[in-house]
Amino acid sequence: IIDTVKLNNGVEMPQLGFGVYLITDQDKARAAIDKALDSGYRAFDTAEFYRNEALLGKLLRESGYPRNDLFITTKIDNPLQGYDSTLKAINQSLKDLQVEQIDLLLVHWPSKKHFFETWKAFERLYDEKLVHAIGVSNFEIHHIEKLATKANVKPAVDQMEIHPYFTQSELRGYLKKEGIAVEAWSPLGRGAVLSDETIGKIAEKYGKSPAQVIIRWHLQSGTIVIPKSQTPKRIAQNADVYGFSLTDEEMQVIDAMDREDGRNGPVPDERYEEI
Ligand code: A2P
Repeated sequence: IIDTVKLNNGVEMPQLGFGVYLITDQDKARAAIDKALDSGYRAFDTAEFYRNEALLGKLLRESGYPRNDLFITTKIDNPLQGYDSTLKAINQSLKDLQVEQIDLLLVHWPSKKHFFETWKAFERLYDEKLVHAIGVSNFEIHHIEKLATKANVKPAVDQMEIHPYFTQSELRGYLKKEGIAVEAWSPLGRGAVLSDETIGKIAEKYGKSPAQVIIRWHLQSGTIVIPKSQTPKRIAQNADVYGFSLTDEEMQVIDAMDREDGRNGPVPDERYEEI
């Protein structure tokens, strides 16, 4: 059974979810989603950008799991930011996902041009109860502070790249203080961290895999984590993380693995300057 975290608006969100980025092949997607449901995952993280909302919607519907048991996150695609275009895009996402409400809707990347308009559209969708919670992704401290100058609804979540080589401790501390839940994308560091010697030693001690140790580190840090895998065995393994815990010392050792060059993804303000 996967623990939940209570978001700042009272919504309960599973702390461990399944990321579906790059899962677009029908058969592989079906195998992955079925395996994920079977392994206990109830939260699924997609985005308009991933181009698989319709596929995910169809597979979840066909799975027969009650909608209320599932928690679906999606994100507004960058070129669709802005007030009207966001409302239109999310209407399409609702149709594609075959749901009446989205559980968590995120701004995929901070936009320079449409920074406040997108959020105003989110607030409207939230008021209209078409989304249960609204949040952001790839927002750094200065983005959150800027948003706060005009927002009526505080983001419930900030989803960003976090893993042992890119621990984001300052941002995590800030979000915690602000009551904004922290969610990690690429929580395994796209594989690089998986072969780290320190992680390997801890894994060996518990008879667990490096991925399981890293997921434990996220969970014990209070982070919401959405590992992705297209390998059925790994999908199950990544959810099998409740039978052991890391010591405080091991948590600190992993916290200290942060590296200057640990980021794998884009710097938010650099890559998406144009939107
Ligand atoms: P695969 O899909 O072939 O199973 P991240 O979420 O940090 O971006 O990492 C995703 C990558 O990590 C994918 O390439 C995935 O490979 C791999 N991965 C996921 N879970 C595990 C695991 N338990 N052991 C090893 N590799 C894993």
